[in-house]
Amino acid sequence: MADKKDARIMVVDDEATIREVLQRTLEGEGYACLTAFDAEDAISHLKKGGIDLVLTDIMMPGKTGVELLGDIRADYPDTAVIMLTAVADAQTAINAMKQGASDYVTKPFNLVEVMMSVDRALEKRSLLIANREYRNLLEQKVEEQTEQIRITFLGAVKSLAEALEAKDPYTNGHSKRVTEITVTLAVELGLSRQQQDQIRLAGLVHDIGKIGVPEEILHKPGKLSEVEFEFIKEHPTIGEKILKPIISDRQVLAIVRCHHERFAGGGYPEGISGEDIPLGARLMAVADAYDAMTSSRPYRNALSPKKAISQLLASRGSQFDPEVVDLFIACEEKMPFCPLSANPAGDAE
Ligand SMILES: [Fe+2]
Repeated sequence: MADKKDARIMVVDDEATIREVLQRTLEGEGYACLTAFDAEDAISHLKKGGIDLVLTDIMMPGKTGVELLGDIRADYPDTAVIMLTAVADAQTAINAMKQGASDYVTKPFNLVEVMMSVDRALEKRSLLIANREYRNLLEQKVEEQTEQIRITFLGAVKSLAEALEAKDPYTNGHSKRVTEITVTLAVELGLSRQQQDQIRLAGLVHDIGKIGVPEEILHKPGKLSEVEFEFIKEHPTIGEKILKPIISDRQVLAIVRCHHERFAGGGYPEGISGEDIPLGARLMAVADAYDAMTSSRPYRNALSPKKAISQLLASRGSQFDPEVVDLFIACEEKMPFCPLSANPAGDAE
């Protein structure tokens, strides 16, 4: 409030004389003032909004001033309330203070005292509102900065995932291609925008956990020993651990964790099967395998798309969700990295 005299005050009393005296005095001090003859009348004025302070009698026909105070506290928390009370009601007035009244004035009242109480109540109200607005502003700023830090950190993790792949010419661009293929499958399936976004994010970082696998194993130009493969099997859980502090979406984390699960079970890290594997991870498993097969490795040339697809079919229902394999084949021509549409024979080997 720019000036406390901008305040609108309502006097609630069943005695017309008291209403008139207080209204005249408050208006004389420059306040806008309205009156109500009982609690119901007061509530109908409050509903219209814009009342900053209520001076209410306690003993009134119908609802008492204390009941009115309860309604105001519940529905109009920014409206301050001063109780007007007979001397005999002092205890009630004190109880009213405990329930959130700003002050109480005993009748017969001294008008100077009433005005002082009004000023104090309005000042306290302004301070409370300013304080709350400041706190909200601070909370909003903290939230914005936290989000900014999260976005920056996530950007760094994505770059790290890209850099990790770029070190090895055989995997360069793998995550991007897997992401695009998986998102294409998600779109074909009619998954929601939110699910597509979850899949896109998971795809870009799905192999970030490889940062925790020794390089000599990661880049070994040949078949891995059982012990070495145990290290590789750690990467989905390492990835989940790295991402957990910055990605709150559990679906994204679950896709990263489960992208090497097998549809019939026996995959890693958990060995879950069927629809226990998140759909995004079942889509990604096919995209991941397809891209790996159609990329060259130190120990073998890239498979042709045709051969890669026959491998997908060979593992349909065992490693891969059969419906996802069928979907992949059905929308093959829409695949961003699938050259089959340009080369229907497609056998490069
Ligand atoms: Fe992986």
